[in-house]
Parts: sequence; structure tokens; C-alpha cells
Amino acid sequence: MLLNLLLGYPGYKHTLIRRQHLGNMIITVTSFKGGVGKTTTAIHLATFFQGQGETLLIDADPNRSALGWARRGGLPFPVVDEWQVDGQYDHYRHIIIDTQARPNQADLALLVGHCHLLVLPTTPDVLALEALVLTVDHLGRLPAPQYRILLTAVPPPPSRAGETVRSLLLETQQPLFDQGIRRYAAFQKAAQAGVPVYEVKDPKAEQAWQDYVAVGQEILTLAP
Ligand SMILES: Nc1ncnc2c1ncn2[C@@H]1O[C@H](COP(=O)(O)OP(=O)(O)OP(=O)(O)O)[C@@H](O)[C@H]1O
Ligand SMILES: [Mg+2]
Repeated sequence: MLLNLLLGYPGYKHTLIRRQHLGNMIITVTSFKGGVGKTTTAIHLATFFQGQGETLLIDADPNRSALGWARRGGLPFPVVDEWQVDGQYDHYRHIIIDTQARPNQADLALLVGHCHLLVLPTTPDVLALEALVLTVDHLGRLPAPQYRILLTAVPPPPSRAGETVRSLLLETQQPLFDQGIRRYAAFQKAAQAGVPVYEVKDPKAEQAWQDYVAVGQEILTLAP
């Protein structure tokens, strides 16, 4: 419902349309399951895109996890909720939208209609995959959705969960980012400290960040 408000706001729509003309990019991070890394992904994609040009993160989740992240520490880009969107954001080259789990069908239709890319994070486990099948099924009924699945919190060897799920998704011809996000405690530390992962004191912080850099770079190759 809140998303309806956001996307239905005349100024916002106007901004989106103009943005498409300018070749700018709106990316929505969504999934039918909670806790699969949507907010972590939205924060780090926004961090990556801020390095490319002015970026805005819209927290459209009523839980306000992204806003909370920003409040706890500091992020290199502004975070607003959907109520604060008022069409004054013309100078942002990238807009990333974080959503709540399981958007309803109407929200999903609006998102697909208004953004350039849907990023669907999923963890490599059965429950998340079941939810992913539902999401993809819904998307299949919408006009030409552009989406990419992102494997998140991929456990280290000897677990083969990441590879197994990757092969499964590729066999069923699902669009999947080449790069997955590995499971690192550094991401939880980053959420706690309210900073991007590269700022936390953790031996894996840089590796964790580089996973998202690689995904950001893949997105740049998709951009029109
Ligand atoms: N790559 C990762 N490695 C380790 N932990 C991760 C990773 N990605 C996310 N997490 C952790 O998993 C939990 C859920 O992540 P996050 O809040 O990003 O998911 P979400 O999909 O936004 O959840 P919600 O549906 O509640 O909004 C958090 O504790 C987060 O720190
Ligand atoms: Mg979230």
C-alpha cells in the first residue's frame, strides 16, 4: 500500500519518466521471503552506485531497516522513506528501492512498470527457493519484467549449497548474477554499526565488499 503511494505520487512518476529519458537507473530490491538480504543488498548497491554518481536509497519497507542502518552510523548517500519522495531528486543518477518481503501483486506490477531492474536476492536454501519460484511466477505474468536473481549469504566450502542452487537456477534458465554474495559475519557487523561493510573491522570486510562491487559492475553492463 505504501508503495502504491510512493509510485502513485505524481512528482515521483514524473521523476521516473524523466530519468528514463536521461538514461538513469532505478533498481528495486525485492523478494517474497523475509531475511534473504534485501536491505543488505540495497545498502551495498547504493554504496557502489554512489561511487558512479549521485545515488538515493528509498526505504519502502515499513520496518525502515535501511533508515535504521543509516541512523546507527553513516552512509555515503541519503536514505529517505517513500513519504519524503517529492520530485526534488532530479540530480540523482541512481535510485535504489528497498522493499518489504512479499509485496502484493499490485505493488509488484507497479515496481516492474517503473523500474529498470528488479534484483531478487535469495539464499541458497529450500524455503527461499520456494519463495523465489512464487516471485518469478508472479513476474512471468507481468509485461516484460527485467530481473536478476542474486544468491546471497552463500556458505563457504565444504557446503555446496551455492553451487547446487546456481546450477538448478541456470538449468531452468533463470537470469542470475554471475557473482553471488558470500556469507560473511562482516555484513552483520556493518548493519550493527550502520556503515557499508568495508568500514567494519573484520578480516573479510574487503572481500565482502568486493562481492557487491562485482554485482554492481554486472548491473552496469546491463544498463541501456
Ligand atoms: N551475505 C551475508 N552474509 C551474512 N549475513 C548476511 C548476509 N546478507 C544478509 N545477512 C544477514 O541476514 C539478516 C537478514 O538480512 P537483511 O536484513 O538484509 O534481509 P532482508 O531480506 O532485508 O530482511 P527483511 O525481509 O526482514 O527486510 C541480517 O542479519 C543480515 O545481517
Ligand atoms: Mg529488509
